[in-house]
Amino acid sequence: MNATAVSRTVQEPIEAGDPRAEPRAFRRCLGQFATGVTVITTAHGDTPVGMAVNSFAAVSLDPPLILWSVRRESRSLPAFLETARFAVNVLSADQVEVSQAFGSGHPERFSLAPWSAGTHSGAPLLDDAVAHLECRLEAVHEGGDHLILVGHVEQYARFDGSPLLFAQGTYAVADDHPAGHDSTTDPGPAEAPATDTDALFTTLLKDAAHRMSTLFDEHRHTIGVNDVTSRVVNRLGAGPCGSEELEHATYLGRRAVEDALAELVEQGHAGRDPHGRYELTASGRRIGQRLRHSARMFTGQQLSGIPEADIAAARRVLLALQPSS
Ligand SMILES: Cc1cc2nc3c(=O)[nH]c(=O)nc-3n(C[C@H](O)[C@H](O)[C@H](O)COP(=O)(O)O)c2cc1C
Repeated sequence: MNATAVSRTVQEPIEAGDPRAEPRAFRRCLGQFATGVTVITTAHGDTPVGMAVNSFAAVSLDPPLILWSVRRESRSLPAFLETARFAVNVLSADQVEVSQAFGSGHPERFSLAPWSAGTHSGAPLLDDAVAHLECRLEAVHEGGDHLILVGHVEQYARFDGSPLLFAQGTYAVADDHPAGHDSTTDPGPAEAPATDTDALFTTLLKDAAHRMSTLFDEHRHTIGVNDVTSRVVNRLGAGPCGSEELEHATYLGRRAVEDALAELVEQGHAGRDPHGRYELTASGRRIGQRLRHSARMFTGQQLSGIPEADIAAARRVLLALQPSS
């Protein structure tokens, strides 16, 4: 058999280097690994304690072990070490606000999420989570500025629902990969004939949205921003805003918002107003204008060649499918 030479283009990294020299870039690199989101809780005397955690990982089936890592400075850490029992609540896609409250040390976090005490651990089990794992603290290992807590799972419960995800500094939901439901070949329900028009409507919608979003990424890169920075610029375009409010408005994680703001300030695109809120400078507003202009041009290009009456009809269908608020 003749070996065929496969031509290979060398992939250039967007950023690379020593993690200690560029901690923000290093964090972005780690953010390429998608995780779920958990809230880990314990009962410290009468006080419920809990924090958002995405460093959770499965370790072993026999014995049943899991791990997570906690910042040494975390105010909740002494409670976890003293009680030596905790519960992992795997959050559902509807629980972004719960993650934000437990990720910011919100004083009212336990009144924002209904819960009951676990029978094995006594730790708060949050309603609407997709899984509960009640654990006994098995081991604590050193991990730089974090400690690694290993838990022995004594009781588990799985619930219906779809998990909340966290990747590239932002919340996400799990969906089938577009390649897994190619709309040109997906015949829809088994009994339906395999023609294009019978492809499931939601499949067509998802594929179109995925393709448009991937293509628009290139336009963002040309302007010199990524998805995270462009969301922050868009929100600041509506007026000055504090970092916590930005976190809620953009659905980004706290670190991602902080990093984007630090970069925008360093590059002279954002600053602080007299109340300490962030606002765009003249160059930041220009980036916002370029993003809006680019979005309009891009949409125009994508729709060119489609009759206006079809576009109007598609718009009516999409608006009719929007949730009524
Ligand atoms: C999605 C998400 C994941 C997080 N993952 C971790 C983690 O794995 N370990 C950690 O120590 N903190 C993590 N945090 C931050 C803590 O939840 C946050 O610092 C919390 O407010 C700690 O509160 P405390 O200082 O009152 O204990 C995460 C926050 C979010 C929003």
